[in-house]
Amino acid sequence: MGDSANGKNLFVKMCAMCHTITKDGSHKVGPNLYGIVGKTCGTTPGFKYTDSMKSKGITWDEHTLDEYLEYPMKYIPGTRMVFNGIKKPEARKDIIAYLSTLK
Ligand code: HEC
Repeated sequence: MGDSANGKNLFVKMCAMCHTITKDGSHKVGPNLYGIVGKTCGTTPGFKYTDSMKSKGITWDEHTLDEYLEYPMKYIPGTRMVFNGIKKPEARKDIIAYLSTLK
């Protein structure tokens, strides 16, 4: 299990400019991510996803998030999430641990 406190710091640095993560938070450039772990991708109401994200049809869990966050544009070609990815496996683990606390 990753370190969710460190994951929170990383989220603020790398993700918060595009994503809110509070319950019922608004969408920014990217969708609100509250409760994302366990959800089907591309299904949060009120956000206009790409067809690529909507048709991927996966559930976000520690494995799919790990693969996505390593290299978003490779896991979901055509995604509008313009983010280079996180190369360090421990950093991905910590962020996923943090995301898992919010539900
Ligand atoms: C430059 C803006 C930007 C940054 C930085 C960014 N994202 Fe995103 N993110 C997006 C956009 C835009 C989408 C929607 C993509 C689509 O529809 O193809 C998205 C989608 C997602 C999704 C899928 C959401 C769903 O409802 O299925 C997850 C999970 C996600 N981002 C996590 C992260 C995490 C974690 C970080 C930080 C490590 C991050 N994002 C950084 C813009 C960003």
